[in-house]
Amino acid sequence: VDAVEAARAAFARGEPVLIHDAADREGEVDIVYPAAAVDPDAVSRLRNDAGGLICVALSDAVAETWELPFLADALEHPATEAAHLDYDDRSSFSLPVNHRETFTGITDDDRALTIRELGRAADAAAEGAFGADEFASSFRSPGHVTLLRGAPGLLADRQGHTELGLALADAADREPAVVVCEMVDGDTGEARTPADARAYAEREGLVYVEGRDLLTRLD
Ligand code: 5RP
Ligand code: CA
Ligand code: ZN
Repeated sequence: VDAVEAARAAFARGEPVLIHDAADREGEVDIVYPAAAVDPDAVSRLRNDAGGLICVALSDAVAETWELPFLADALEHPATEAAHLDYDDRSSFSLPVNHRETFTGITDDDRALTIRELGRAADAAAEGAFGADEFASSFRSPGHVTLLRGAPGLLADRQGHTELGLALADAADREPAVVVCEMVDGDTGEARTPADARAYAEREGLVYVEGRDLLTRLD
């Protein structure tokens, strides 16, 4: 079985997948899960074995339904002016949120609740059954899980982990919500190399997939 098919099958089962974007982009490997499959052990893996920022990417359609802006558009502050990135046209960051039933929002239990409920809500929103009012009565901002807004045309528009993860969710017939977190080397603080991430995937029995393979197969 090739990596793209293995990634699709793993995602369909609710298992995590490691995705490398591209050497000429961030050059980072994110651990990615379908949001509804996340439990406290999954948050522990993201914290300990990935170590980057834990974010939930939502499809453009769901973000539009919930009236979620890009953070840079929502804030009127000089730091958001000309905030271009060296590796892409724009950041996909939207609001940071917590589920309203969390306490501080940062514990594994709290973040798992926020992420899982985002997954369930995105599934319902895609069916037209969870609107902006329900979103606001279920989640508050600021919070400890950063939302990311996917590009409207997904991989045709942007090739970040945001869109790679959402395209994989679509191919696996999962909800349009995925959690992503960068793998950072715990000793050096540098992004984990693809070879290092691949070795971790083998040790843990997880699928590692190259962004370019997702781009050619999921388009
Ligand atoms: C959030 C990020 C990560 O890079 C994440 O992978 C989403 O961003 P992108 O779609 O640009 O790859 O910055 O921590
Ligand atoms: Ca990034
Ligand atoms: Zn990324």
